[in-house]
Amino acid sequence: MKVVVKLGGSLITDKAKPFTAREDIIRMAARAAGKSIENGSQILIVHGGGSFGHVVAKSEIELYGELRGSSVPPVSEAMMELNNKVMKYLLEAGAMAVSFPPHSFCLNSCSKGTYSCYFEPLLRAFSLGLTPVTFGDILIGEDGCRPSIISGDDLSLILAEKVGAERVVFATNVEGIYRDLSDPLSLITQLRLHEIPKILSEIRLSQTSVADVTSGLPGKLMKIYRYLSSSMNKPEVAIIDGSRSEVLKKALSGGEIEGTLILP
Ligand SMILES: Nc1ncnc2c1ncn2[C@@H]1O[C@H](COP(=O)(O)OP(=O)(O)OP(=O)(O)O)[C@@H](O)[C@H]1O
Ligand SMILES: [Mg+2]
Repeated sequence: MKVVVKLGGSLITDKAKPFTAREDIIRMAARAAGKSIENGSQILIVHGGGSFGHVVAKSEIELYGELRGSSVPPVSEAMMELNNKVMKYLLEAGAMAVSFPPHSFCLNSCSKGTYSCYFEPLLRAFSLGLTPVTFGDILIGEDGCRPSIISGDDLSLILAEKVGAERVVFATNVEGIYRDLSDPLSLITQLRLHEIPKILSEIRLSQTSVADVTSGLPGKLMKIYRYLSSSMNKPEVAIIDGSRSEVLKKALSGGEIEGTLILP
């Protein structure tokens, strides 16, 4: 099975503590990926920024009011630092992992209102049976265009279409999407793509802060809806608790999903 997995920043870092990776979790997730490759899955890995890239990008915006050319070195370096850890544990787990840092092959394109990326080497690596690893990153802007951030969520969904993934797994620090985050019994175990807008409006009603809707998991749900609605390829999408080794292994090996499963 072709699987794109996003190891969320919420899973592999402590978002409350700047520059803090959860190395034990990264090791466990890398082993789960290694196992599922052994079991025949073809895996493409994306990871988030968590307390690395996000923290530096935020301080740049606080200092200068925007991201500028000089923000590219510190933000990209913070992401490389986290990526090095992910790579180390993947190679240790026997995966033929190869890193593709987006700041080196994508531009922020204001004229197109999107990113312009040269994905060919990454896609070629995937079709050769290697395990490409990429991540949320800062992108240099085209002529007349400031840098911007490409999120790991966006990259996962863009790449899922490019490789014809059958499944996209968002491994996070929560079990899945809750109707009400404060009620553990409100986990949504399965839904159809077309039901997302309705569910989002219900989540919105059940949560007090508007900020919760555009960030965190509800924000992810909105992206999943937008990308998949306009994509020819319609993979199933899972949101799972990536800290549970068995849950992650099953999800990456084409097994049952324990969490939230979104069907086309
Ligand atoms: N209704 C909800 N159901 C589940 N989680 C929610 C909900 N609303 C908000 N959240 C929050 O969303 C968080 C996960 O989203 P977040 O963007 O932090 O993770 P991530 O995508 O793994 O990290 P990153 O963006 O750094 O890669 C959870 O930790 C949870 O607190
Ligand atoms: Mg996120």
